[in-house]
Amino acid sequence: MSRRPPPTSFEPGFAERVVAWQRRHGRHDLPWQRTRDPYRVWLSEVMLQQTQVATVLGYYERFLARFPDVVALAAAPLDDVLALWSGLGYYSRARHLHRCAQVVVAEHGGTFPRDSATLATLPGIGRSTAAAIAAFCFGERAAILDGNVKRVLARALGFGDDLAGAAAERALWQRAQALLPARDVDVYTQGLMDLGATVCTARAPRCDACPLADGCVARAEGRPERYPVKTRRTRRGRRRHALLWLAQGRRLWLVQRPPRGVWASLWSLPEFASADALAALSAGWPGEARWLAPIEHALTHFDWELQPLHHTLPARLAASQRDAVEQALRAAAGPGRWVARDEALALGLPAPVRRLLAGG
Ligand code: ADE
Repeated sequence: MSRRPPPTSFEPGFAERVVAWQRRHGRHDLPWQRTRDPYRVWLSEVMLQQTQVATVLGYYERFLARFPDVVALAAAPLDDVLALWSGLGYYSRARHLHRCAQVVVAEHGGTFPRDSATLATLPGIGRSTAAAIAAFCFGERAAILDGNVKRVLARALGFGDDLAGAAAERALWQRAQALLPARDVDVYTQGLMDLGATVCTARAPRCDACPLADGCVARAEGRPERYPVKTRRTRRGRRRHALLWLAQGRRLWLVQRPPRGVWASLWSLPEFASADALAALSAGWPGEARWLAPIEHALTHFDWELQPLHHTLPARLAASQRDAVEQALRAAAGPGRWVARDEALALGLPAPVRRLLAGG
């Protein structure tokens, strides 16, 4: 038996307020708002899952210039997709994006499905993203519930159950679905996103600018920041590795990272278990070596310290000597190749590696 959700104390109604507020105060000029093309909306939603609007704008335009439609994206080499994604982080999203385009072409004739349930079966499209695409492009009454929207709803409704639990999450989805308006779902959906991004922020929410303020439970309680409740914390670990920046003339040695794990399939500098291991490997090589400042990089589950060694081989080097270096390197760090620096910077490099190479 399904229980009816508790009534809300919003009069006029919750959705009507969000819609009216979005029309007056929300964002209207973002490039993906000027279209109902699901390819463009999907691309923007995936990019916006991890990054703020200001950063996404440039990536979005460059991506569309290179891959104007889903067929072009599906046909592109993964490396080209990763190169254009480079700097946005979370490369698994770019790989899913590419695979999703291939599935849309192979299984849906190059046309995105028009309903959220089918959209949610595609690689990399979760329930909330599927709902956003269906609401924006096809007007479907489907609820979104990304991190920002969880915050807005939990505060407005005083939803205090711990969202680390699946049952609480399901309950909030139900509440979200029950709040949907009969019409203007696209405006409402954008309104919730805009409220979460600009007014009902995680810290220091601007309740004085919020259309829901007078019915908001969290505000009435005086401490809106206490919502949403989510207890589970990922314990962040720390890892240390060394990177080898091996240069000869204008070229450097790059490896393609394995298809699984951090920075999967990206081109990068060879990685070593420790600075000692790298020092031992390269100790007898000709040329000059110096340790550079460590790179600190925060990933979802751990902080990563990468200690780069810049080793320059002499411009003139006997073929046998170079072969010996390459052989040792392949044995220790897998296959790789010499790449001109300009060419390297055009590849899909992890952002910290790109910064290192671009600055050096
Ligand atoms: N964040 C996620 N989706 C968004 C959208 N469509 N507009 C602005 N910010 C967003």
